[in-house]
Amino acid sequence: MDISIPMQTRMKEDSSMIDLSLDYHAHILPGCDHGSSSVDMSLKQINMAKEAGVQTICATPHFYPHKESVSSFIERRRQTADILWAQIPTNAPRVLLGAEVLICDGMERLKAIHELCLEGTNELLLEMPFYRWPAPIWDTLYRLNDLRDIQIVIAHADRYPPEDIHQLISEGIPLQLNAECLRKHLHRKCYLEWIQKGYVSYLGSDIHEFGPGYHDFEKCRKLLCRYL
Ligand SMILES: [Fe+2]
Repeated sequence: MDISIPMQTRMKEDSSMIDLSLDYHAHILPGCDHGSSSVDMSLKQINMAKEAGVQTICATPHFYPHKESVSSFIERRRQTADILWAQIPTNAPRVLLGAEVLICDGMERLKAIHELCLEGTNELLLEMPFYRWPAPIWDTLYRLNDLRDIQIVIAHADRYPPEDIHQLISEGIPLQLNAECLRKHLHRKCYLEWIQKGYVSYLGSDIHEFGPGYHDFEKCRKLLCRYL
């Protein structure tokens, strides 16, 4: 009898430690969004990840619900992933498919929303506005949080108004931080405290093209090993 249960989350039970070999947020699929313009660029990004100690990369191209249907996005993502997988070396980090989903009014009613979750999980990486969140955005966020088959994770929580993040923390909604945030001396203490208290489930490079994402990732991995 098969008693295995489907994986629902990559979050660790001991949430005070995050998996530093996992890049939860990356734009590496060739031509799927503005993260990589070619297979060659994607392969170089993946090699940078490997050198930074990353063993699993979550490929999270942008999904904008007001511009594209879920099915069109999934098909486009599949095509670009296939092109990449045809050329990826066997010893490269594992690539999982996900999405960075921009919050939009009413999106909790999207029928296929669960298809945007990270492969093998029920986790939806949600991008929020960079200005103070108005009431309708909060309403949508709470309705998404109430969906029983979805666990929302807030993308790059370090990039939003702190007042909004503090409210999310009080609601127990898990956060993803971009590795670069730990290099900002002014705010580092705050982010380390969020990690130590278990508010942060994941670290991401948010790599676009040859941006500093993996350089930051490597530095932050060393820093977290020292502090945690
Ligand atoms: Fe991103």
